[in-house]
Formats: sequence, C-alpha cells, structure tokens
Amino acid sequence: METLKKPDDKILVLDFGSQYTQLIARRIRESHVYCEIHPYNMRIDEIRGFHPKGIIFSGGPASVYDTEAPLVDEGVYSLKVPILGICYGMQMMAHQLGGRVQPAMEREYGPAVIQINHADLLFSEINPVDVRVWMSHGDRIEKLPPGFETMAYSDNSPVAAMGNLKKHFYGVQFHPEVAHTTCGRTILDNFIFKICKCSPTWTMKSFADMVITSVREKVGRDGVICALSGGVDSSVVAVLLHKAIGKQLHCIFVNNGLLRKGEAESVRRIFKDHFEIDLVYVDASDLFLERLKGVRDPEKKRKIIGNLFIEIFEREARKIPDAKYLAQGTLYPDVIESVSFKGPSATIKTHHNVGGLPERMKLRLIEPLRELFKDEVRSLGRQLGIPERIIMRHPFPGPGLAIRIIGEITPEKLRILREADAIVMEEMEASGWHDKVWQAFAVLLPVKSVGVMGDARTYEQVIAVRVVESVDAMTADWARLPYDLLANISNRIINEVQGVNRVVYDISSKPPSTIEWE
Ligand code: XMP
Repeated sequence: METLKKPDDKILVLDFGSQYTQLIARRIRESHVYCEIHPYNMRIDEIRGFHPKGIIFSGGPASVYDTEAPLVDEGVYSLKVPILGICYGMQMMAHQLGGRVQPAMEREYGPAVIQINHADLLFSEINPVDVRVWMSHGDRIEKLPPGFETMAYSDNSPVAAMGNLKKHFYGVQFHPEVAHTTCGRTILDNFIFKICKCSPTWTMKSFADMVITSVREKVGRDGVICALSGGVDSSVVAVLLHKAIGKQLHCIFVNNGLLRKGEAESVRRIFKDHFEIDLVYVDASDLFLERLKGVRDPEKKRKIIGNLFIEIFEREARKIPDAKYLAQGTLYPDVIESVSFKGPSATIKTHHNVGGLPERMKLRLIEPLRELFKDEVRSLGRQLGIPERIIMRHPFPGPGLAIRIIGEITPEKLRILREADAIVMEEMEASGWHDKVWQAFAVLLPVKSVGVMGDARTYEQVIAVRVVESVDAMTADWARLPYDLLANISNRIINEVQGVNRVVYDISSKPPSTIEWE
C-alpha cells in the first residue's frame, strides 16, 4: 500500500503493544486531528518523513529491562517534536534519557487517584486534586531523567507524570485514552492542541477528499477492480473510488447463492442504478451449490466457497485488461492486531476471499480504509451518501448462509433459512432493535421435532435465533430482547415459513460459544 497524501497536522502514535493503542488513535481523531499508528521500530527517516506535529509512545506489556524490550530509535528525541509517553512509553523515555526505572513493590492495576503538583500545559483546565485515572503497570520511575520534573504523584507512583517542559517531552504512568481516566480526553487534547499546536481540522470529509486526490494521482489512467460484497466496508471503498476515478473502477459482485433474501437485487439496484458504478454481476449460485453438495464439515464448506470465489473472481478480473489495482475494504483492526509491535502485520482479511490473488495477477493493493475503525467507516459512508441500510448493515460472513445451515446445504434448506432470516431482520428493524445490536440472524438446525398444527401432528425443522451484542466480535453476549419481540419473531417464523414448527433463542455468550454456529 502506498501512502496517501496526508493532512498537515498529524500525530504519530508508536505502538509498543498495548491493548489500548487503537484507543489513543481514536481519541485523537475524535478531536479532529489526523493520526496514524505505526510499529515502535519505525525507522527514524520514516518518522521524520511523516512530519508529525507530535509523537505518542503507547503503553505495552514489556519492562524496559527485558532483554527484548522494544525500544524506539533514540533519534526521535532530537527531532524537536513534542512527545507524550504513556505507561511503558513513559518508562522507556525515562530509561533512554538517563532516568531509572524499577519494578514496584506492588503492581498497580485498575483505578487510582493522582494529585497533580505541576499544572503545566498538559494538565491545564484540570482540577488538580483527586484525579481519577486508570493504571496498569508493574515498573515505576525511581529517578527522573535530567531536565524532567514530577508533574503528578499517587500513593503507589511517586512519579505518576513527568515532563521536560523545555523540550516538550511528557510522560504519564496512567492511561489517558481509557474512559476510566476521567480527565483523559482533556490531557490528550492539551497535548495535541496546546503542546503540539495542531488545528482541529480533520473531518471525514477531509479524509474522503484526501483519499480521492491521492487515488487519482496514484492510479493515473489504470483500472481498479473491487470485490463488492454489499457489506459496509466494500461499499464504502467502491463509492469512494468511484468518486475518485469514475469509470476506471470496475466492481465485481459474485452471487454465491448463499446470500440473504433480496440481497443480490438490492446490491445491483444501489450500485448499478443509484451510483451508476460499473458492476459486473456474476450469478454463480448453481455452481456453488453443486460443489457444496453432500458437504457437511464447516471447514470444508469454507474452503470450497473461498476457492471457488477466487476462481470466479480471477476469471472475471482477467476480462478487465487495464486493471492494475485491487481495492479492498481492509480496516484498521484487520491490519494490526494489538501485537503490531512485532512489526506491521499486513494480513489480508481472509474472508475477503481474494487472498493470493493480488500476487498471482500482479495487482497492486489499494486499501483506503486501513487507518479507520468500523464506526469511522460508517460515518465516512454517510458522508458519501450511502444509504443507511447499507451503513448499518450487520457483519455477514463471507461463506454466507452456508455456515448457518448446519449440515448439508440444499436449495430447500436455503429457502427455509432465507425466509426465517428475513423475518428476524424485519422484526428487528420494525422494533428499533436492529441498530442496537451487533448481529441478528437465524440458523437452521439439522434436527426435526414434533409439533401440532390444527389436528395434525407435524415433524419439521427447528430454527435458532441468534442476536448478540458486542463491540468487536471478540467477545459477545446474547441480547436481552423483549419477550414480545421474541414472540413476534417466533410466531411469524412458525406461521409463515413452511417446514418449520419450532423456534429457539440462543442464550450463549462468547466465549465459550462463538457467534456463528457453523
Ligand atoms: P465467530 O463465529 O467466530 O464470529 O464468533 C466472529 C465474527 O466474525 C464473523 N465471521 C466471519 N466474517 N467471514 C467473515 O467475513 C467469515 O468467514 C466469518 N466467520 C465468522 C461473524 O459473523 C462474527 O461477526
């Protein structure tokens, strides 16, 4: 991925492996300043070339005395750029600049109270007494580096914050980026506005303009192909690129026969008719179902679907001879797991199903959403005029309904699941619950149960309804839907979907269960 043209005021976050690094970036962008996360070992010439107005060292699990402790290139201290070290970032700064860090007697983890004794710029507009913060550290600073002074302390940390006010180097032992630190936003804002002197000019509109300009420059007259899935990420990429390069963008949408009810038509309507994007629509439903015949194992299903998708996508892509680029909706959480301090892990989302393709076809990647979080992508999508239905769409797995039909897939089972699933979605939307949850869907179980319809005994399929709340799908809890809503869903499915006589609600959380049943 070549770098995009960046705004002038930028903050660089160097990642030392903290689980909160993403939050730092997020808070800064919420304050309308552009910011990027890079691994701690970013080369000094790259750091300089990035032209940051300020640098933040994230926290991290290491101790500065570990043999493999991640250390930043010390050249960073000569750039004349303000630096804020958070937790491990502060200890590393103290260590590298001649202070002393030692293991504390007790690990300090969780809420703590600090007293500010130096209300410099970093702590301006904060009431200095009893500031509630979030701590998570083992080591602590015993001796300040030359030129530094203590700015705050707690019972457990004689140096809860330090600063070299002349050089604009600061360190905080706690995490200003987490919500538990009540004045955290003010501290970060003080750093980026009062110390780094950034202007709050970054918006989704400026992000869109920046991407559009740089894609135009980068692509020239070449073509770009994009695998459109109808989900929010690929939709935003398609519309953004279409604004940038118009007819040079070619979208390919493969109907694998495993989509939700009405999905293929709605994607065609929106992208072809509404946005007038060149959309190659391939209906490969029969082929997918044929290859899936008799297959019960979920991993086998995934492989077959993934491989066939690549086969079809590649065939279609080769028909577009001027294509030199492949655009993907890779998001920040897909790019960098929190272990990014080991180096950039530019893994391609496997469920994009185009893994391996770019190299084979000699296509270069364009990933305009790499720096963004899901909700930022949603607001970008709104900015681009994408309909709310797509923006708020729940995540949908690449293998589609195949992993929600447990056991063998048949056209009849697909019909049942599609109808049941559509009812779940309709009722979630009508009740206003759709946008409050992470995902809602139906699963077709491989069991039949006895029921009674009028005077007759029935022996039919069971549908499980799964609705979960989550922030990142890593953990999830089943949604406490109102009983009336559950009753409506159940009554409608049993009455309207032929072949179903029982509906159950999945009340398992993740872990130990997963969101999908497979
Ligand atoms: P699990 O079932 O692992 O799912 O708890 C976590 C999240 O990932 C989605 N999921 C997938 N998404 N391709 C995708 O694009 C896949 O193969 C896939 N499998 C699971 C799932 O819907 C949930 O949001």
